[in-house]
Amino acid sequence: MKKISCFSYKGGAGRSTLALNVVPFLVDELDASPEHPLILVDMDVDSCGITYFLKLEDAPDIDHYSVQAMFGVNGYIPQEDDEDIPLTEHVLFKHLCKVGKWFNVEDGSVLCLPAEPGAAMGGATNYDGRDNFVKEFLEVCKEYEVSGVLFDSAVGDQLTAVWSNRLSDVILCCMRPTKQFREGTQRFFDKFDDRIARDKQIIVIPNVVPTEGLTLLDGEESHRYPEYAKDAIKKSFEDNVQRNTNHYHMDMMEGELFGVPKIDRFMWQEGVLTTAGHLTETERVALDRYKTIAKLICNI
Ligand SMILES: Nc1ncnc2c1ncn2[C@@H]1O[C@H](COP(=O)(O)OP(=O)(O)O)[C@@H](O)[C@H]1O
Ligand SMILES: [Mg+2]
Repeated sequence: MKKISCFSYKGGAGRSTLALNVVPFLVDELDASPEHPLILVDMDVDSCGITYFLKLEDAPDIDHYSVQAMFGVNGYIPQEDDEDIPLTEHVLFKHLCKVGKWFNVEDGSVLCLPAEPGAAMGGATNYDGRDNFVKEFLEVCKEYEVSGVLFDSAVGDQLTAVWSNRLSDVILCCMRPTKQFREGTQRFFDKFDDRIARDKQIIVIPNVVPTEGLTLLDGEESHRYPEYAKDAIKKSFEDNVQRNTNHYHMDMMEGELFGVPKIDRFMWQEGVLTTAGHLTETERVALDRYKTIAKLICNI
């Protein structure tokens, strides 16, 4: 079972957009189905992007079955007869929202645990021990042969971001190509406990969102970046690779930068590209990047 965290050190770096757009390719790679669903968990409880994009803010029972309700101070407590209960009846699953239709796959192939907009974590400022609920959730997922769990993480050191990163095998680290972003991300990973990081795969994804004038394209177009942005990305790549070549991946051949190009459509209609109908050339490139990321997640 793949455990993936969509992380960034600051907000607005394209985590939710990446999470949603990589889903169709993950479904493919992981062979997700209603029997072995892919589960999306909206861990960004302060600004719940995928809950918003998938229009789950008004989901029935969201106040009882949200990330806050499951993992907050009065969260789910494992029961002894848990394993005797069929998947569809288990309290942790019964109320997950079927969201496959957004991705043109069978509805039950992708399930989502939304976050309740505006609901706090129940004052859980000390997270030690609280992540047991998430661990338990993952245990149950494993028992039921879920194909993967994708956390749309919060930013930086926030409670649920720590959980998502700590409990995932793969961290998709989105960043905008700015100096502050590069340094902050670097500092974040420097603090990362090596024992926790050792077995993790960290994929650095410099997104261009939504910075005007920075367009990540290949080859001859790459001269359009300001030099500082190129340097920032290059430095983050080098620093990361120096730390541990096994754990960081970012294609950066001569004249090519790995990232998701800027898509005009996202500026006015946020959501899932694969279901958006006719695609422009740039959108096709972006989709290809999302597909590559799904392959990196699954093959390494
Ligand atoms: N490749 C892209 N091109 C253009 N806009 C994008 C792209 N990816 C994301 N965006 C836009 O950038 C904004 C922030 O993205 P979002 O995924 O919500 O970031 P985060 O979850 O990190 O806060 C959104 O308005 C989104 O539509
Ligand atoms: Mg988000």
